[in-house]
Amino acid sequence: MIRKAARLEKIPPYLFMELRNKINKARAAGVDVISLAIGDPVEPTPAPIVEELARTARDPENHRYPTDEEKGMAALRQELCRWYARRYKATVDPEAETLVLIGSKEGCHHFALAMVNPGDTVLVTDPGYPGYKPSIWFAGAEPYAVPMTAENGFLPDLRGIPSDVARKASAFYLNYPNNPTGAVANRKFLAELVEFAKSYDIALCYDNPYIDVVFDGAEPLSILSIPGASDVAVELNSFSKWFNMTGWRLGMAMGNRTIIAAMSQVKSNTDSGVFNAIQYAGIKALRECGATIGDMLQVYARRRRKVVDTLNALGWKYTPPQGTFYLWVPTLGGKSSAEFAAELFEKAHIVVAPGSAYGRFGEGYVRFSLTVPDHRLDQAMERLRNALG
Ligand SMILES: Cc1ncc(COP(=O)(O)O)c(C=O)c1O
Repeated sequence: MIRKAARLEKIPPYLFMELRNKINKARAAGVDVISLAIGDPVEPTPAPIVEELARTARDPENHRYPTDEEKGMAALRQELCRWYARRYKATVDPEAETLVLIGSKEGCHHFALAMVNPGDTVLVTDPGYPGYKPSIWFAGAEPYAVPMTAENGFLPDLRGIPSDVARKASAFYLNYPNNPTGAVANRKFLAELVEFAKSYDIALCYDNPYIDVVFDGAEPLSILSIPGASDVAVELNSFSKWFNMTGWRLGMAMGNRTIIAAMSQVKSNTDSGVFNAIQYAGIKALRECGATIGDMLQVYARRRRKVVDTLNALGWKYTPPQGTFYLWVPTLGGKSSAEFAAELFEKAHIVVAPGSAYGRFGEGYVRFSLTVPDHRLDQAMERLRNALG
């Protein structure tokens, strides 16, 4: 009898596949479910980007294997480096320090295969993005959960990591603006993180797809703008949230050249790069569509206000975080994440992501995503008032 590989045994079903199944089942039974669970922008990709894709897709030259399939198109890498210099004051070399990816999720996986040995310890924040631990397990290593708590502004307490663990660790996965908590990091924390990584020879996988989704005066911050970061860190990023392009699958890794070369080695032995027309569309986006990010932030700010006002009218004393399009909300009445998510589903047909699915330290929270059309969010808030008011 054929059997699946043992390495898959410890990998749970991907959180959002489970949530999607639950939503689809309820919808098939005629229930009008509003999902505030998944972070997937509903606004369209700006028109010039779509038009550039259509134009370049017509050129048979682009139907062949992608140009410079190993690292991604040189023109795109150069444009990315100009974008990083202009917007985040980070100097990155397009040749040795930039790799085009199929989204940052792919980067999380390639980073582990590139930098982690079987048996290694890899630090990962708890709560954390659900993509990290499976990548660590695929590399045969063990994740070590670094807690993030409200008392610490949802930043890891680096001094609290036991030194024997830090000595054993070969890598650290984290992301700010943070999914799921919405917390943002400041320069001081990032400088401490770089120092910590240097002192223990830890490679940093700094995942930054929400870099521009910040509010209330928070600064879009790349770790690559911190002195010395490129000695130890790679930053993953993508077009998904910049330009409502989650479905396009276009991202990048930038930073330390040893990590970039190692990830490139993994990638060139795995796939053959991103369709040229998508890369051309990416160039167009960076050159001409930067201003649309401000419009997108206004939409999220408006939705954020609606949810926060509703929660506070219902008895929460909730201050929203400064980053991402998520709200990380403590449950009411001491309920567990799962109990509270189930209650919202049963009483209001609203789906939220239970915090416990992001790790042990996510217990007691649920995550609301603001990526639903405004009229659906209004309906969801009305249902919430009726269910809990
Ligand atoms: C923290 C984090 N990293 C990576 C990703 C994957 O994004 P991409 O579309 O760039 O692969 C997401 C998506 O939600 C995310 O929240």
